Amino acid sequence: MTKRIILVAAVARNGVIGNGPDIPWSVPGEQREFKALTLGHTLVMGRTTYESIGRPLPGRTTIVLTRDPAWSAEGVLSARSFEAALIRASSCEGEIIVAGGAQVYAEAVHLASEQIISEIPLEPDGDAFYPAVDLRRWEETDRERFEGFERVWYSRLPVA
Ligand SMILES: NC(=O)c1ccc[n+]([C@@H]2O[C@H](COP(=O)([O-])OP(=O)(O)OC[C@H]3O[C@@H](n4cnc5c(N)ncnc54)[C@H](OP(=O)(O)O)[C@@H]3O)[C@@H](O)[C@H]2O)c1
Repeated sequence: MTKRIILVAAVARNGVIGNGPDIPWSVPGEQREFKALTLGHTLVMGRTTYESIGRPLPGRTTIVLTRDPAWSAEGVLSARSFEAALIRASSCEGEIIVAGGAQVYAEAVHLASEQIISEIPLEPDGDAFYPAVDLRRWEETDRERFEGFERVWYSRLPVA
């Protein structure tokens, strides 16, 4: 069975997702919910995002995208293209969760069937942005309120 490709991101009101290597806010409940949502699944993330986290996230398989054939880190897999990451992920646990950052979201949004976005009610400075959700192609299917943020589920609309 083909696995779903799901983008999971925390996005500020102005579209910012990062500033330099960091996420420019601290919403502990969001991190907890990210863990709950992603446990038992396979994360695909860019090398910059992986290095800013600095370790494999427990309870999940991590595939790091890098074009550097010499790159490796203990406890994670690597892939040199998004297609190669999808092939690796197809034999890993759970669904395929694209976990950032900006470059990787921009590439993966065209292939995803679902986006799960934590809306952060802030407008921080930043230099990494999430691609705007095109509501001609995506529909909001669910919304849940948490302390300090709302989580929104989008599904890709069938092609007319
Ligand atoms: N708010 C959130 O939910 C969230 C989530 C994740 C990250 N972030 C933020 O996003 C920012 C990082 O985003 P970013 O765009 O700078 O970097 P990124 O997407 O994390 O990583 C970019 C790197 O990934 C590799 N890469 C990307 N596409 C590839 C492909 N198709 N094939 C092979 N390798 C590929 C390249 O690594 P090489 O240079 O090694 O070739 C590239 O330099 C940080 O600020 C981080 O905190 C925010």
